[in-house]
Amino acid sequence: MAKLAVLRPYETTWEDWLLGSGASAQFEDPDLPLEIEIGPGDDDFLYECACEHADRNWLGIEYSRKRVRRYVRKVEQRGKPLPNLQLIWRPAADLIGPFLTPGKVAAYHIYFPDPWPKAHHARYRLMTPEFVGALRDSLGREGRIDLATDSDEYVDEIREAFAEAGGMQEVEGARPGPGGVAGDRPTVFEERWRAMGRTIHFIRFTKESA
Ligand SMILES: C[S@@+](CC[C@H](N)C(=O)[O-])C[C@H]1O[C@@H](n2cnc3c(N)ncnc32)[C@H](O)[C@@H]1O
Repeated sequence: MAKLAVLRPYETTWEDWLLGSGASAQFEDPDLPLEIEIGPGDDDFLYECACEHADRNWLGIEYSRKRVRRYVRKVEQRGKPLPNLQLIWRPAADLIGPFLTPGKVAAYHIYFPDPWPKAHHARYRLMTPEFVGALRDSLGREGRIDLATDSDEYVDEIREAFAEAGGMQEVEGARPGPGGVAGDRPTVFEERWRAMGRTIHFIRFTKESA
């Protein structure tokens, strides 16, 4: 049965992060372009990408331990060796910025980040100008960030965060993410929100060349 490693920075890879080689040091071929999904949850996007795009490394950053374990079990049961797939169990902001080597990441995928709609929960929202700045700095030339959300308020806030952070430009009209990379399959949350009649917003930003 194939084994999928779960990276736990404090236990196994902390030195790698500190030394600046970042997540790519853990892949069989660390020189492949690196794409990162933040919050894969129970969705197969990352797994499908790793299967269909063996010429890239795929890293999932997920802060729910339960979901990481479930993901690992699911991948192992499928039995396909995937030397280009890794999961890390951490909040994304703990890693990106502090530990990812600048200019290293080819793309981020962020599908249905929790919107935390209540005002007193606003501090939990992921897409702040500071975090967008950290994502931007970790991207390589022509790096991109693909996002999806069902929240009309959050989509505006995300665009404001990009505007405030600077250095990225929105690409109009593309349906990024799952459709753009691994076939036109909606994610688990996309399906859920569509069934409830919600509008889905897709956004793509690319890094401006220096
Ligand atoms: C609403 S679910 C979306 C799951 C999946 N992307 C989809 O479209 O079906 C959000 C996921 O992001 C994870 N998450 C939320 N904030 C995170 C953070 N700061 N760092 C890493 N994962 C996070 C949650 O645990 C959850 O699995």
